[in-house]
Amino acid sequence: MAYETLLVETHGAVTLIRLNRPQALNALNSQVQKDLVAAFAAYDADSTQRCLVLTGSEKAFAAGADIKEMQPLSFADMYGQNFFAGYEQVTATRKPWIAAVAGFALGGGCELAMMADYIIAADTAKFGQPEVKLGVLPGMGGSQRLTRAVGKAKAMQMCLTGRFMDAAEAESAGLVAQVVPAAGLLDEALKQAQAIADMAPLAAIANKEAVNAAFETTLSTGVHFERRLFNALCSTADKVEGMAAFSEKRKGVWRGA
Ligand code: HXC
Repeated sequence: MAYETLLVETHGAVTLIRLNRPQALNALNSQVQKDLVAAFAAYDADSTQRCLVLTGSEKAFAAGADIKEMQPLSFADMYGQNFFAGYEQVTATRKPWIAAVAGFALGGGCELAMMADYIIAADTAKFGQPEVKLGVLPGMGGSQRLTRAVGKAKAMQMCLTGRFMDAAEAESAGLVAQVVPAAGLLDEALKQAQAIADMAPLAAIANKEAVNAAFETTLSTGVHFERRLFNALCSTADKVEGMAAFSEKRKGVWRGA
């Protein structure tokens, strides 16, 4: 399927989505939101696809929500239309996905990257929540996800001053899983996505659910949730296959069942 603001291709079991509004540094207007919702839903529903990489351009992953589109909108417009609600559907994606970030990931761009299961950054990446400079604040989860990722001190400093965080600091602060040279970003992201795609698909979803539960619940409830998922996976054909494959020193052949 073709999208107005995205380029989508498949590499075997890996879906690659590129944000494609180069004239606006991939600013996230409502068409991008609509396209992302549709593309992520299509990925989640396609049983041949097991991991996804979302990326932008060399210069910008995304420079934020589209300021020119937001400029004339009032409280009633935003609230009435529930303007950014589509991104809740993106975060509801059950299967794994990685954000591969080069250049600017600012405002909504940083927030979109933080919706990913994890971020791989090029050494050129710059993260920021500069909404304060526009008289607003993050509105797609930035104040919450950034704080959970890097802690209060850095999140508060970034939100209050609008300063950018470079890739090295983002890695040491825990915002990104790994930094790689810009020229190798996409290859590395696709390689990791392929490795994830090679895992048992139900186990991939369960691992994602369990890690995400750590952000939503107490330790004891989270451990309980994890144990129930573990026990449940013991009833799958892929658990039987995975453990047999280990004993027989071969690769598992997954059925997703
Ligand atoms: C609309 C944008 C844009 C944005 C860049 N552009 N960012 N258009 N919305 N967020 C456009 C510019 O207007 C310009 O178009 C073109 O992209 C190239 O940008 P330049 O500014 O000329 O590039 P450069 O000088 O290299 O500066 C790059 C930049 C700067 C530092 C990233 O563009 C910038 O500060 N952008 C805004 C960053 C920001 O404030 N993001 C947060 C947005 S608020 P023209 O037509 O002039 O050539 C947000 C809220 C989210 O995200 C929460 C919502 C609920």
